[in-house]
Amino acid sequence: MTQFIKVAKLSELKEGVITGVYPDDVSVALALINGSVHAFANICTHDGGPLDEGEIVNGCAVCPRHGARFDLVTGTGYFPAAGPIAIYQVRVEGDDVLVGLSEE
Ligand code: FES
Repeated sequence: MTQFIKVAKLSELKEGVITGVYPDDVSVALALINGSVHAFANICTHDGGPLDEGEIVNGCAVCPRHGARFDLVTGTGYFPAAGPIAIYQVRVEGDDVLVGLSEE
């Protein structure tokens, strides 16, 4: 079952900028790309770099530590020893951005 949690205001997100949020103590990164909100794990699978301190390039999140890139639709990592990152469901209700966290 997926629980949706309000994490941000759409009006506060900036196009092409990654923002970290922490619903239920989960580190989640948000990025507004061409008007669509993407939510993904905020921890690089290469060596734990904070993706919210990185940047968006060609629709991918780029880790600030060693440059791993992650596709924000599939989660695929493009870097040696960087596995995929989790991609979370997003709902926008008015100005509220909600992220879906799966419950075990
Ligand atoms: S920690 Fe992200 S690329 Fe190395």
